Amino acid sequence: MLTANELRKKYLAFFLSKGHAEIQSASLVPENDPTVLFTTAGMHPLVPYLLGEPHPMGKRLVDYQRCIRTGDIDDVGDDTHLTFFTMLGNWSLGDYFKKDSIEWSFEFLTSSEWLNIPLDKLSITVFEGDANTPFDQESYDHWIGLGVAPGRIAKLGLEDNWWPAGGKHTGPQGPDTEIFYWVGEGEPVGNKGTHSKEWMEIWNNVFMQFSKGADGALSALEHQNVDTGMGLERTIVALQGRSNVYETELFTGILKKLEELSSFEYAASAEIKKSMRVIADHLRAASIMFMDGVEPSNKDQGYVLRRLIRRAIRHSKKIGIESQKLVAPIVNEVVSSLGESYPMLVEKQDKIVAGLLAEAQKFEKTLAQGLREFSKFWEKNKSVSGEDAFNLYQSYGFPLEVTHELAHEQGLEVDREAFAAEFKKHQDLSRQGAEKKFAGGLADHSVETTKLHTATHLLHQALRAVLGDHVEQKGSNITAERLRFDFSHDKKMTPDEIKQVEDIVNEQIKRDLKVHSEQLTVEEAKTRGAIGLFEDKYAQIGGKINVYFMGDFSKEICGGPHVEHTGQLGGIKIQKEEASSAGVRRIKAILG
Ligand code: SER
Repeated sequence: MLTANELRKKYLAFFLSKGHAEIQSASLVPENDPTVLFTTAGMHPLVPYLLGEPHPMGKRLVDYQRCIRTGDIDDVGDDTHLTFFTMLGNWSLGDYFKKDSIEWSFEFLTSSEWLNIPLDKLSITVFEGDANTPFDQESYDHWIGLGVAPGRIAKLGLEDNWWPAGGKHTGPQGPDTEIFYWVGEGEPVGNKGTHSKEWMEIWNNVFMQFSKGADGALSALEHQNVDTGMGLERTIVALQGRSNVYETELFTGILKKLEELSSFEYAASAEIKKSMRVIADHLRAASIMFMDGVEPSNKDQGYVLRRLIRRAIRHSKKIGIESQKLVAPIVNEVVSSLGESYPMLVEKQDKIVAGLLAEAQKFEKTLAQGLREFSKFWEKNKSVSGEDAFNLYQSYGFPLEVTHELAHEQGLEVDREAFAAEFKKHQDLSRQGAEKKFAGGLADHSVETTKLHTATHLLHQALRAVLGDHVEQKGSNITAERLRFDFSHDKKMTPDEIKQVEDIVNEQIKRDLKVHSEQLTVEEAKTRGAIGLFEDKYAQIGGKINVYFMGDFSKEICGGPHVEHTGQLGGIKIQKEEASSAGVRRIKAILG
């Protein structure tokens, strides 16, 4: 029976034989993208190259990428949701397109030399077309040409056959063709359109040929790319004929260890099964996060890690395992199943154990007391209010999903709305955290950073003058040496545009504009045409926002500080213009 490691190696070998170069999995923590906390798909770290930057390893790439998706933490424990997974991917950066991509997928899946899957067990979807883009006849014809029966091909819309799904996102995108495996009872019938549940997606081939701008319009990319993603875990479930991932070797070692440590059998009850699954999934994800340098904290990635560990610890208490006994043996199992793919796990095993233990013990200290407190709320009202939930979080470190789950376990009503409101408050807190982190650098008010800060305003306005009003600040980071500015724009800037922007900024510096600030209401600021983040907390003083004016050239919401005259800047030089993330460009510039 094919194991996950064998599938991964076959996949790499197959695409190496087709002229691809193997690239390493990027970190789970995106280096250049302030808009997401974790890498959620194989394409994520490759966005700059999909947008047109040349990749040092060439135009045909193959990889396996570690990913985290945390949208459904509450659902982990069922048959399908995992927080951590690995995505296999092959990539064409302006090289081959639909024909080769489809033929190679077909060959890898069905050839006796590779996976040898009977063709009848596979079905396909292709994009049916919409007002903007026609039916993907070409992909359809390639599949038919390879012998796929017309009844096995479903033609579906934006939600199913466009990536990113639904067509709502900006940045690189296009129609896709997806491959499904029969997981139903008996002989395969129909296709994804007719028997949705019985066909499980294993592979997605995206034909990235467009970029969507902030205005929603599609423009053709400089070159046509292929982005494919095959979920390693779910493909293994299908190929091994299992009903869920916990039955594969990626999890059986961990579950067996949990049975040993708890003296419960995994299958003893639905509750025990769920607890063991949650512990296994969460500690696996947490180990990989530690490997990538994430530390538990109250914001951003650190907070997600904290929630995973705390939920795992609560469940391990339920089945009677103390963290002291739990952590080292489970990490050991995680390392034995994932260490070959991610050797850094082996190197950092001791650190991971120590980090997990420290966080687990911190939580264990307040867990018993928090549970008592929870029972009190419960006895009194037979419900937990949003405020109670927040209290449990603040005083006892209970992440909201733990409280939510506790209430749920009582089998009684949960004040869902109040919970939702608290969740939102939380999200806002962690979003602010992410923004603050990215806004960074301004705590240093040295002369150099202050000058670069003023230069950033001039740059922002000059970009809007040259590229258009869709340009908005997406992030800014200033050190004493340089400024870095991220802004919405979906194309690489031409050398001429860069020069124009540079010239405009230098002209405003030469004009030696006077810099001053005024406190305005949001309304006044809008009427006077100020740009910037209206919700910026740094710029708010007593219900008003602070707006910096630079002569007649720039009006921008900002907490400062800035220089007094633009002449103090000397001159600007743009050193680099590059893609930062989907629909976002990044400029680095210096003064002098
Ligand atoms: N980006 C696509 C996905 O994540 C294909 O890799 O499904």
